[in-house]
Amino acid sequence: MERENEPQRTSDRRSFLLAGAAMGAGAIGVSRALAQPPRASADGGLTSGDVAILQFLAAAELLEADLWGQYNELAGIPDHEVPGGSGNRAYTKALSILDDDMSQYIHDNADDEQSHASFINAYLKAHGADPINLDKFRTLPSSKASGARQVGRLTNLMELTVDTSWWTRYRSDSKNPDLRDTLPQAVPDLAVGQHPAIPRDDDDLTSRKHLQAIANTAAFHFAAIEQGGSSLYPALAQRVTNPEVLRILLSIGPTEVMHFQTWQDKAGNAPPVTDPKTGLTFPKLNGRGPLFQTNLIMPEPTVFLDRKFPKCSILRPTQTEGIAQGAAKGLASSGLFKGQSQDFFAAVGTLAAAADAAERQ
Ligand SMILES: [Fe+2]
Ligand SMILES: [Fe+2]
Repeated sequence: MERENEPQRTSDRRSFLLAGAAMGAGAIGVSRALAQPPRASADGGLTSGDVAILQFLAAAELLEADLWGQYNELAGIPDHEVPGGSGNRAYTKALSILDDDMSQYIHDNADDEQSHASFINAYLKAHGADPINLDKFRTLPSSKASGARQVGRLTNLMELTVDTSWWTRYRSDSKNPDLRDTLPQAVPDLAVGQHPAIPRDDDDLTSRKHLQAIANTAAFHFAAIEQGGSSLYPALAQRVTNPEVLRILLSIGPTEVMHFQTWQDKAGNAPPVTDPKTGLTFPKLNGRGPLFQTNLIMPEPTVFLDRKFPKCSILRPTQTEGIAQGAAKGLASSGLFKGQSQDFFAAVGTLAAAADAAERQ
């Protein structure tokens, strides 16, 4: 299957734009932002808790933008909206087996994350608070595969451990992680070990099954990331004070849900395959009951708040306590930050702790 939109070579203005934005905003490093906790501004009406929540979300969105940018360089549509990279034909083709429009969706998800980060940072700045700039942590290596830019990255997509329990969590009619339930993995092999979700170099393109396993890993990672965002926004919204900040969280959060919904549908199209090089196996999901059935993509009504209530179709989890630190920890344990400095983990940890300390006034 060929894509209609072959990647165009475009001039790469992303780094220029980021540098320009950073200078224009007078953006400062995370450590200084944290050393001087912002106060509510006279006209902005933001509490320090609202600022902490927005700053953590800005960091999360910058991390999302970084990983989606890497996917876009290799399998999306590089253009003026999401510049960088020139596409990798073989990897793109392996992903297109899941859906002919994967390149468009990857591009649009990348575009959305950049817009989330830019908006939240601009809003913080407009209210006298410090925007978040992670540029000094862009130190991780790029894929060496054809199509990727050779620039420093925030995230590592080449050694991932992907939790695929979101698949069964949204299909269960009796369990909810908010009530301390655990759910089985859709792809048990992905939840252990370390797996590339992008080709690491052109050697990864030579075996068709090996490359399909990499593309399938990406497909499950796409949904894993976006279901995390889907839960993060409503969880943090419960502790926002300012109505306009609440509006921001309620307006961005559901776009993460739209991403997740798309990706979980596409993940169901990942062909069963065993990687001949690593043994990583994507099992057949259909025929194993409703917890695994691929077309059950609408969230199954399940227990919510208390088992005494009737089942309800809901996002899950949405409990708010410790959500930011939980999200940061989950991303770290997935290997997404493998190779990052202690300073990076400290900075993200401090932002998460500040967001978790925010209280609704
Ligand atoms: Fe986002
Ligand atoms: Fe997202």
